[in-house]
Parts: sequence; C-alpha cells; structure tokens
Amino acid sequence: MRIVRTVAELRAAVAEAPRPVGLVPTMGALHEGHGVLIATAAERTRFVVVSSFVNPSQFDEQSDFAAYPRDEEADARLAEAAGADLLFAPAVDEVYPRGFATAVSVTGVSEPMEGAVRGRKHFDGVATVVAKLFNMVGPDVAFFGQKDAQQLAVIRRLVTDLDFPIRIDAVPTQRAADGLALSSRNVRLRRADRERAPALHRALRAAERAVEDGERDAARIRAAALAAMDDFGVEPEYLELVTPESLEPVTTVDGRVLVAVAARIGGTRLIDNALIDTPAAAGGGRSGGPSHDTNDAEIEDPPGDRDRQRPALRRFDHGRPRAARGG
Ligand code: PAJ
Repeated sequence: MRIVRTVAELRAAVAEAPRPVGLVPTMGALHEGHGVLIATAAERTRFVVVSSFVNPSQFDEQSDFAAYPRDEEADARLAEAAGADLLFAPAVDEVYPRGFATAVSVTGVSEPMEGAVRGRKHFDGVATVVAKLFNMVGPDVAFFGQKDAQQLAVIRRLVTDLDFPIRIDAVPTQRAADGLALSSRNVRLRRADRERAPALHRALRAAERAVEDGERDAARIRAAALAAMDDFGVEPEYLELVTPESLEPVTTVDGRVLVAVAARIGGTRLIDNALIDTPAAAGGGRSGGPSHDTNDAEIEDPPGDRDRQRPALRRFDHGRPRAARGG
C-alpha cells in the first residue's frame, strides 16, 4: 500500500489503477468499523483508495477538532491489512488552499437531527469535502457506514443532485460485544461512561422489540426506547423515528423506519441508529417480526485476507456504476 499526500500523486496513481476503483473516505483514527468498510471495498472493487483527512470544516467546535484522535502509523497498518491499495493523507492546505471559497450545501435531509443539534455547518463541511474527494479520486464506488445514517442520506442526495457517476454502498454498523457502535470517539469514554454507553443500542433494541410485539405507534415505540435509556441514566439529545431516505418524522410505523439517537455521555457525543422493518415491508416471504440484519454486525474476526476476497470482483458490473442503490 502506498501513501500519497497530494492530489497530483493521487490522480497519477488512480490513472494507472485497474477499474473499478473504490473509495473509503475517513477521518483516520481507524477502527474495525473502518476495517470492514475497507474490506468490503476490497471485495467489490479492484483498487481501494482510503482517504484519511480530519476535515476542519465539519467540526462545530474547534476543541473537538483539536482533540480528534490522530495516529497515521496505526491507520496505515489497519488500512493495509484490510485491503487498501492507496492511502491518501493530505495536509489541510492541500484540500483547502489559500483563497478557498466554495461550499456544497444539501438542504432538507441535512436539517433535522444532527443538523439541528450541530448546526448547518456540519453537513455543509461533510458535503463539501466528500464532493472534493469524489472529484479528486474519481471512484466507481464509494463506501459509507450505516452508522452515520443521516450522513449517508446526505451523500446519496449529493450524488443524485450533482450527477456524480458514483455508486454509493452502505456497510452495516460494526459493534462491540455489548452493542456499542464502534467509533473513533469511543477512546475518549472514561470507564464509568463506557459502562453507560450501551444505552443507545439498548434503546434501539427496545424500539425493535416494541415493533416486534406489534406496536406501530411511533410515540409509544419512542417511549419504550427512552425508558431503556433511562435505565442507564442517559438522556438523549434526540431520539427520532423517521423515513430512511428523506428523514421525515413518522407517526405510524408502516414499512421501513429509521430510529436515530444521539446522546452525550460524559463529554463524549455518541450517535447510533437502527433500520427496523415491519413484516409487511420485509417482503420475500419474511414473516414474524422485524428485521434489522442489514443494519448491524458485531465484530468478531478481523476482515479476511484479500486473496480470499478478490474473486468476488468478477461479480462487479464494469460497464457503468449503478446509481445510488438501496431502497
Ligand atoms: P469517519 O467518522 O472517520 O467515518 C468514516 C466512515 O466509517 C463513515 O462512512 C462512517 O459511517 C464509517 N463508520 C464509522 N464507524 C462505523 C461503524 N461502527 N460501523 C460501520 N461503519 C462505520 O464519517 C466521516 O469520517 C466523515 O464525515 C467523512 C465522510 C470522512 C467526511 O469527512
């Protein structure tokens, strides 16, 4: 795996790479959640670019940006082991040179939940840097985690609206054994906070159970989720039931619903979500309770070695990437 720091080197490397090219955008501080994204990209494409850039424009607090964990050596090891071919790790002024004055702003899906708590600037920063990365790399497929469900919705909107010829693949949320979604911010949790952190996942499980038990009223499902969090003494910043793509509030659950939650535990902000299907929406003969299996995965083993994964490439349609998929 090579490491490059300039757009010129990146473009030269990608120009010679076999297609399809996959891109996994990250802010570094890589963990097994990122590892699975990279391994999935290695299975589905022939050349995997991982970008590692702590993007200042998406941080709402300068202190959060400064405190964001950085360890390039460990990142390079993890990326290579997971199957990356190229690590793009630019300096801030390579991405935002003097005079930079453009922003990409996605309205609508970026406004509720994270947008409401963190303000407009956050998703403008994400959309701008991701649009830049798409133009810098020119990938056929880009991989994003379901863990950041709203970010995924913003990126899908961006790709559709700006005609990026890039397929967006979502990868299930990777979790610790107690359910906590893996996150670069988890290292900041002190022991007592780490013990309360599974509250978010428990809330989502409670919502799932309520749907399983036949509840369809969003307010009651939400109340069940809140009660589960309360057992941990955790109060959410928000806990919402919304449509998975347009993120509009749902009052009665019918089909697929996204339950999204955010909470501050100690000084650390955590987010999590679950896609819940009612039996009617699961289709394909599925019956008896909701399904969340597209959404979650617990980390047990490290991603498999790349030689085992390469044969899967043949299944990729080289002709042209499909538009954003996923119902
Ligand atoms: P970062 O937080 O580093 O996440 C990079 C990618 O990893 C995102 O697509 C995120 O959803 C995914 N990811 C993080 N934790 C995960 C987990 N537990 N399971 C599955 N996927 C997980 O998201 C960003 O960086 C930035 O906003 C970025 C898109 C790179 C733009 O700066």
